[in-house]
Amino acid sequence: MTDYKDKKIVITGGTHGMGFATAKLFTDLGASVIITGHNEQRIKTAQEQLGARALAIRSDASSLADIEQLATAVATHFGKIDLLHINAGYSILELFSQVTAASYDKTFDINTKGAFFTARQLSPLINSHGAIVFTTSIANNSGYAGMGAYAGAKAAVTAFMRVLAAELAPAGIRVNAVSPGFISTPTMGVYGATQAELAAFEALGNTITPLKRHGHMEEVAAAVKFLGFEATFTTAAELTVDGGLSHRLTLPQ
Ligand SMILES: NC(=O)c1ccc[n+]([C@@H]2O[C@H](COP(=O)([O-])OP(=O)(O)OC[C@H]3O[C@@H](n4cnc5c(N)ncnc54)[C@H](OP(=O)(O)O)[C@@H]3O)[C@@H](O)[C@H]2O)c1
Repeated sequence: MTDYKDKKIVITGGTHGMGFATAKLFTDLGASVIITGHNEQRIKTAQEQLGARALAIRSDASSLADIEQLATAVATHFGKIDLLHINAGYSILELFSQVTAASYDKTFDINTKGAFFTARQLSPLINSHGAIVFTTSIANNSGYAGMGAYAGAKAAVTAFMRVLAAELAPAGIRVNAVSPGFISTPTMGVYGATQAELAAFEALGNTITPLKRHGHMEEVAAAVKFLGFEATFTTAAELTVDGGLSHRLTLPQ
């Protein structure tokens, strides 16, 4: 059994949704956690809810300067860390014909460039036998209409996750990804969607997911904990947490 009391964990995008649920799981287990977010109010609320074992820092995942400052803050507060969970993400529903250069850049800046340079800046702080867990998405190999830029941005993360797994293997650091399907979070991972769009998205998820429901944030948190601390012979893997959706299951009729 892992004793989490001495564990030090960084979670980007930890103020909300599944990143927050993961931070809560680890602080409840006694670990110390640094979380990041963008929105000041959500940072404040998350800090209040997580208490003294957590430190919530404003750090824009799309800003290389903020990522550098985050690395300095993590080194100052924690020294070395045991798990880096790169979870901050952003998507909007846009058909190919609607994607602008600005929305494309924002999607790639947060999901891809941010993830890459967070790994680049913070991986030197990871203890030998520590781990990185990225959050990707089953959108990265699915073909959902309206998710073109997002799917490409997350697919890139899967690709460089594997290369990083190779490069950090000699240091005993494992690098994996958790790939959620339809998960009930306040935004459902989609920014700016109307209530009607979210309801339609939810109904779609419950229909097409073989387990016939959405996943819970806590089920993703459990997968992050598994990849981060328990799956000690697993690296370069992308673990789907999607109720079977991406595996083309044929259900009994
Ligand atoms: N929900 C799903 O069904 C689903 C499915 C597949 C993959 N995912 C992925 O899973 C991850 C978490 O999704 P979620 O549904 O839990 O999302 P969420 O509730 O919207 O939370 C996203 C987190 O990322 C942070 N974030 C967003 N933009 C940021 C930026 N520029 N800089 C720093 N932090 C930023 C948010 O902070 P602020 O609130 O301060 O912006 C928040 O803490 C994302 O990577 C998402 O793409 C979600």
